Amino acid sequence: MQTSSNMLTIAQGAWLHALKTARVIVDATSGAGKDTLFLAQNKQDDAHIYAFDVQPTAMLQTKNTTREFSGDITYILDSHENIGQTVESKLDLVVFNLGYLPGGDHSITTVPEVTVKAVESVLKNLAVNGLLSIMVYPGHPSGKEEGVHLMILLEELPKEDYSVVKCQLTNHDETAPYLYLVEKVR
Ligand SMILES: C[S@@+](CC[C@H](N)C(=O)[O-])C[C@H]1O[C@@H](n2cnc3c(N)ncnc32)[C@H](O)[C@@H]1O
Repeated sequence: MQTSSNMLTIAQGAWLHALKTARVIVDATSGAGKDTLFLAQNKQDDAHIYAFDVQPTAMLQTKNTTREFSGDITYILDSHENIGQTVESKLDLVVFNLGYLPGGDHSITTVPEVTVKAVESVLKNLAVNGLLSIMVYPGHPSGKEEGVHLMILLEELPKEDYSVVKCQLTNHDETAPYLYLVEKVR
C-alpha cells in the first residue's frame, strides 16, 4: 500500500506548508468536501476558504462535510473559471482536484478549456509564494486531454516568476493520477 508516495499525501504536505501563512484559500473543485475539510482543519484562524463547485449535490456534500467550519468558508455554486471575479484578493493557496466526483454523476467532469481558463486566471492572481496545486487524472479521455493542455501552459511558465513541479509515479501506468505544484516566486 502506498503511504508517503501517495499523490494526495504529497499534495497535502505542500498544502500544509502553504497553510502556515495562507490567508486566502480556494478549493476550486470542492466535490464531497474532503479537501475543503483538510484545508479548514489545517488553516490559520484568520484564513478564509472559498469552495467552488458547479454541482448542487456536490456543494451540499461540501457543506455537510465542513459544517463545523462553515463560518470560515464561502460556498460558491459556480464554475472555477469565475474565481477571479468572485475572489478579488491575491490567492495564497488554490487546490484543483480534476475529473468527476467519485460516486456522483460521472458525466459532470472538469473540461480542458474551462480548466485552462481557470488556471490562467489563478496564475495571474497568485500571491508571491502562493501555491497552486492541481491533481490530474489521465485515466479517462477528458483527463488525459486536460493533462496535455496543462503541460503546454505550465511547463512554459518563466522560471523567474513560477516554479513548476510535476509529481508522477514513473513506474506505474501512464493512466495513474499525477500532481502539479506551482509556486509564484516573485
Ligand atoms: C474529483 S471531484 C473533486 C473532489 C473533491 N475535491 C473532494 O475532496 O471530494 C471534481 C469536482 O469538480 C467539479 N467541477 C467540474 N467542473 C467544474 C467547474 N467548471 N467549476 C467548479 N467545479 C467543477 C465536479 O462537480 C466535481 O465535484
